[in-house]
Amino acid sequence: MTVAAERPAVTTGRVVWFTGLSGAGKSTLASALYAELHARGVSVELLDGDAVRENLSKGLGFTKADRDTNVRRIGFVAGLLAKHGVTVLVSAISPYADTRREVLASFPDALEVFVDAPLEVVTERDVKGLYLRAIAGEIPHFTGVSDPYEAPESPDVHLETHKISVEDGVRQLLGRLGL
Ligand code: PPS
Repeated sequence: MTVAAERPAVTTGRVVWFTGLSGAGKSTLASALYAELHARGVSVELLDGDAVRENLSKGLGFTKADRDTNVRRIGFVAGLLAKHGVTVLVSAISPYADTRREVLASFPDALEVFVDAPLEVVTERDVKGLYLRAIAGEIPHFTGVSDPYEAPESPDVHLETHKISVEDGVRQLLGRLGL
């Protein structure tokens, strides 16, 4: 009775992966893009670093091994969603270039978005009050202070958040998504 061939083909969803220092603006941009895509009726999901660490990656810390596990888990869930046609926005520091490359390699049309703001700028912003504590030595393995951040060498989109507005960033991203 059920004829598989008559079912409409599901187009694989795009993965948009925001990487950058804490406080660079990953979540802000990803949330703004989410709102815009949602308003346009696009099936979209947001995998945000903080929410992922409260749920999917609860208990993981910030060693390289734990960060890599976190990033691979996010990649796994992104793959499940994308397979069903969902556009997946990922916001995670994802500091290691090799792990990002490995995970993004499974998504041929993924967009790697480098959310870039210099360390002085994010330290000045210190949105969560973490940089002052990290500089004081109270938070071990803090990205950019006592742990590495390996910036993408050739990101698909490079947004310098100390130079452009959120609206400009979203406009560029929509353009890259062909929207
Ligand atoms: S990672 O490297 O991709 O696994 O990190 P992520 O899951 O995105 O988590 C980053 C958020 O955790 C908070 N936090 C830290 N960040 C960096 N280094 C250390 N040691 C650390 N400890 C806690 C911080 O609030 C990050 O949030 P964002 O949204 O990036 O500001």
